[in-house]
Amino acid sequence: PQVCWLSPEQTAGKQKPYMYTQGQAVLNRSFFPCFDTPSVKFTYSATVKVPEGFTAVMSATSWEKQKDNTFVFKMSQPIPSYLIALVVGDIVSADVGPRSRVWAEPCLIEAAKKEYDGVIEQFLAVGEKLFGPYVWGRYDILFMPPSFPFGGMENPCLTFVTPCLLAGDRSLVDVIIHEISHSWFGNLVTNATWGEFWLNEGFTMYAQRRISTEVYGLPYTCLEAATGRALLRQHMDATGEDHPLNKLRVVIEPGFCLFLGVNPDDTYNETPYEKGYCFVSYLAHLVGNQSKFDAFLQAYVNRFKFQSITADDTLGFFLEYFPELKEKGVDSIPGFEFDHWLNTPGWPPYLPDLAPGQQLMGPADELAELWAADGLNMEAIEAVDITGWRTYQLVYFLDQVLRKSPLPEGNVERLSKMYPKISKAQNAELRLRWCQIVLKNNLEAEYSKVKDFLHSQGKQKYTLPLYRAMWGGSEATRALAMETFSATAPQLHVNVQNYVKKILGLGTAE
Ligand code: BES
Ligand code: ZN
Repeated sequence: PQVCWLSPEQTAGKQKPYMYTQGQAVLNRSFFPCFDTPSVKFTYSATVKVPEGFTAVMSATSWEKQKDNTFVFKMSQPIPSYLIALVVGDIVSADVGPRSRVWAEPCLIEAAKKEYDGVIEQFLAVGEKLFGPYVWGRYDILFMPPSFPFGGMENPCLTFVTPCLLAGDRSLVDVIIHEISHSWFGNLVTNATWGEFWLNEGFTMYAQRRISTEVYGLPYTCLEAATGRALLRQHMDATGEDHPLNKLRVVIEPGFCLFLGVNPDDTYNETPYEKGYCFVSYLAHLVGNQSKFDAFLQAYVNRFKFQSITADDTLGFFLEYFPELKEKGVDSIPGFEFDHWLNTPGWPPYLPDLAPGQQLMGPADELAELWAADGLNMEAIEAVDITGWRTYQLVYFLDQVLRKSPLPEGNVERLSKMYPKISKAQNAELRLRWCQIVLKNNLEAEYSKVKDFLHSQGKQKYTLPLYRAMWGGSEATRALAMETFSATAPQLHVNVQNYVKKILGLGTAE
């Protein structure tokens, strides 16, 4: 399952085949022999011979092309097995900063350069200021074919990202900031087991939003965090708060039997990200002073760099670093015990205050309210000008509309006509929400948009919610799901294929 072989039709250029690997969480064991656990770190080198006209790239600190289309790679820092990655394809690169370039198929390289020229260095510099030296040398970005299952993957020195990020306006740059943040949290300080995946993702969400706050300010960052919270709400509603995966510390073992234990890939849901973010925010709240907490994060990275650790290590270090908090017994405040945070499923006991985003969220809340009303107040609606709204404001607005859906008869049709900027959007985050709204409101006239979106890309976080919505809907949407899946299945990553099969009750060969 590790190595994805794509035919020319599955690439942007449609001329040459392409191959890529995706290691996280436990797929690299089918790529090369290894201790495939994040608790073991090692350096590596690789020699890769490719056919004429192809380029190979890897997550490595240095590389050179030798004769006979042979590429030699060397990663000189110890990393866990899941961070080794390889791509071979018709790809080229362009510089976007002093230590950064973008890689893409030739037909996408101009767009890729334009999207991120000049901004990457700023994120790296803020990251270094906050969390300490960037140890990986280069930070390059590779734009993957549309079937890449993730928004981004933090392969060291060379982040892989979905081509959906090429929105033309940098509006989805939070994904890049997220992957850059893994340079400290995840790639340098690593969760020792996949049961504590939140140590990678929760700290990374926190770091991402610290960088975002420095670069884009608090209101915008709170708005982005509010869309994250909405995803956590949707996830917990869909799975049930008490689901065992809605704990920060997930029990993976016993794995001695195929039917017991948890597949680490199943931990890829909103809980480690957004509940993890809440827990780290809670630790910051206990400290009560941003620069003191920033200093703690930097000391934490320095203390555990190049190691793999458990939450006990993290929390032990936190209490050691702030002896006055340890003295006060902050780890055992009723309802907020560290043990409760880690081992109890459900909604986080503490939520960071997102009120600074209210100036951006308030108008979106009000507009969603107007559209959900029984007889539309068109005068009030027309008085709101959304032409200047940022993408995440629109996303937030659509999440509110979705939450209130199904809307009274006819409202969604009117909304669709009134805002072509939304209903005809090319931006993937907007398309996802619009498709969800179309399905929840049974807007048959626009079902083809769901189909088109699922044909255009294969990101797991876009694909699964839409299949869930289709399968939970009418006979017509169930038929749409079956038809779309049989046409797109060969293009999807095998993990995503299996998850969709589960949703559609098609049974997998597990
Ligand atoms: N490391 C993850 C992607 C991942 C998780 C791959 C689990 C395989 C198994 C990456 O850093 C990530 O979190 N990507 C997010 C970005 C978002 C939170 C900004 C994604 O792809 O959605
Ligand atoms: Zn991540």
